Amino acid sequence: MKAIQINKYGGPEVLELVDIEKPKAEKGQVVIEAYASNINPVDVILRAGHMAKMMPLNFPATLGSDVSGVVSEVGESVEDFKVGDKVYGSGIVLAGASGAFAEFVMTQQDLIAKMPENIGFNEAAAVVLVGVSAVQALVEHMNLQAGHPSSPEAPAGRRKILIHGGAGGIGSIAVQVAKKLGAEVTATAAADELEFVKDLGADGVIDYRAEAFDLLLRDYDAVFDTVGGETYAKSFKVLKRGGVIVSMVAPIDEKLAEEAGVKAITQFTKVNTGHLTMLGKFIEEGTVKVHIDKIFPLDKIKEAFEAKEKGGVKGKIVIEIKK
Ligand SMILES: NC(=O)c1ccc[n+]([C@@H]2O[C@H](COP(=O)([O-])OP(=O)(O)OC[C@H]3O[C@@H](n4cnc5c(N)ncnc54)[C@H](OP(=O)(O)O)[C@@H]3O)[C@@H](O)[C@H]2O)c1
Repeated sequence: MKAIQINKYGGPEVLELVDIEKPKAEKGQVVIEAYASNINPVDVILRAGHMAKMMPLNFPATLGSDVSGVVSEVGESVEDFKVGDKVYGSGIVLAGASGAFAEFVMTQQDLIAKMPENIGFNEAAAVVLVGVSAVQALVEHMNLQAGHPSSPEAPAGRRKILIHGGAGGIGSIAVQVAKKLGAEVTATAAADELEFVKDLGADGVIDYRAEAFDLLLRDYDAVFDTVGGETYAKSFKVLKRGGVIVSMVAPIDEKLAEEAGVKAITQFTKVNTGHLTMLGKFIEEGTVKVHIDKIFPLDKIKEAFEAKEKGGVKGKIVIEIKK
């Protein structure tokens, strides 16, 4: 089968299209005939070796995290999936899978779920890590549901949330989910992405290069940070006491959190059957639509990475493995 592997860390030039053995399913595992994957920041980070000290790769390593496709083999004690099921989930080597940029992907049964019925393989692959990240943050960590106007526990008024990186993979899903949960949403993005973010449902948008969000906003209930660095540090200023900040990137700054009287959380996203099923409900009810910016075939993987690393992507870059 064809797969994308690396033999050393580096830029897009280290990515190689190779022919390797198809993986097999052992106990608790499935093999998926892959239809699509996509490029997440973690794929760039792994390829470049930025996680090499913490989590070294065994070379040759098949890259790729998210996968959608059809189950082609199930191992012993796999009860919830059968051959022919359309599934989506994680195929990342760090989680004990065989790598998602390949025609067949072995993964653990608890890293996948049945695909929502109203989307195709490209959308399903594109939404995995970003969708789970957004839903885990907003539903589990921020409990935005409590602020929904139709909820019996709703406090007076809508809850205000600031989402950084509203045009990115995670941010673009978070805007849609936060709106559905009844929040008033402000999002930061680059100038030429502001219209896109408004169309996703944001009530307010801020050009992160031209405007200082921390001077413009006050009394927010929640901040969802997909950017980190200075953006994270400045975000404490816009929160009201008792508010919450969840960052996908920055470690918790206890001092800033204490001074501002807010709860700070650094999220580690868990792609698992439970979270994918929760995400699937948002997709099936039509709340979450993943925006695909560009589609590349497996043999154009270098071009796909270059497009991702150039920036300015609205939503996701998909790798189409089988049509
Ligand atoms: N902790 C975890 O478990 C976990 C899981 C998944 C992802 N992550 C991390 O979460 C981050 C976001 O992931 P993603 O998939 O959403 O990435 P992404 O698709 O690359 O989106 C990031 C977005 O942030 C925008 N941006 C950059 N600087 C900004 C700033 N100063 N203010 C506002 N927006 C800014 C980018 O815009 P431009 O295009 O203009 O640069 C881009 O639209 C990544 O660092 C990723 O590694 C962590």
